[in-house]
Amino acid sequence: VQSLFPTAPAELSYDDLVELYAYPAELPWLRVNFVSSLDGAAQGSDHRSGTLSNRADRRIFGLLRSLADVIVVGAGTARSEGYLPVTATETRTSLRNRLGLAASPSIAVVSRSLRIDAGLLEGGLAPTLVITTESAPAERRKEVSALAAVLVAGETDVDLALAKELLISRGFPRMLCEGGPTLMRDLVAADAVDELCLTVAPRVLAGDRLRMTQGPVLDPPREFVLRHLLEDESSLFCRYSRS
Ligand SMILES: NC(=O)c1ccc[n+]([C@@H]2O[C@H](COP(=O)([O-])OP(=O)(O)OC[C@H]3O[C@@H](n4cnc5c(N)ncnc54)[C@H](OP(=O)(O)O)[C@@H]3O)[C@@H](O)[C@H]2O)c1
Repeated sequence: VQSLFPTAPAELSYDDLVELYAYPAELPWLRVNFVSSLDGAAQGSDHRSGTLSNRADRRIFGLLRSLADVIVVGAGTARSEGYLPVTATETRTSLRNRLGLAASPSIAVVSRSLRIDAGLLEGGLAPTLVITTESAPAERRKEVSALAAVLVAGETDVDLALAKELLISRGFPRMLCEGGPTLMRDLVAADAVDELCLTVAPRVLAGDRLRMTQGPVLDPPREFVLRHLLEDESSLFCRYSRS
């Protein structure tokens, strides 16, 4: 992995990457991680994101998970990507120990319908959380509550600013959102995104795939500032924060 900006090109070690992606001293902080093709597709030809990724992207994806207290994900992504609790092999235990983090990040699923797989709800090394609305189906809410902690934020839409507060109060100040596009649009609209990590994959797909955001246009658009730009095998790893 080479650093193009802000330093001169230089080969980066894992420890350099840990430093570049460290959460700021002043928490809380919500970081989003996405991969996109050159023509803006956030889904590969199989409608999943893994096919857009490469080795370095998977490495950074794993590092970002290793640095987080909680991974926030939309239920659509959890369903289409078959999300399960994070296992010990997916994160660096030694790094988490060094940083004083829990053994594993929890997954927090944002959902109205509560259509979430039992394998995810049951949790693993860390318990799974569900963030939903007052209007979620009552019977399903009872079933889900038997398996996972249910946080209610908002009436018909999850109020994402409130959801962030609930996660912080539960001891999860280092938040990582892994998408997807519907949740991302609502997070940006709520001014809840502190940082955006975007991998630009060096391929063109065309077609009608979703892009990083899905939903009504944001007026005014939200502005971000480039913090670093890394490169590996023609993939770009951009890190932006809210201006
Ligand atoms: N390229 C990437 O980095 C990347 C990352 C993530 C996902 N993806 C791709 O994106 C696609 C999925 O897109 P998507 O837009 O369906 O994903 P999504 O945002 O993960 O899921 C949408 C669902 O999440 C819940 N949700 C989102 N915002 C909500 C809110 N404000 N309040 C209440 N519930 C909310 C709802 O769940 P319920 O339906 O349960 O009510 C909604 O239907 C997949 O193909 C996936 O592979 C790509």
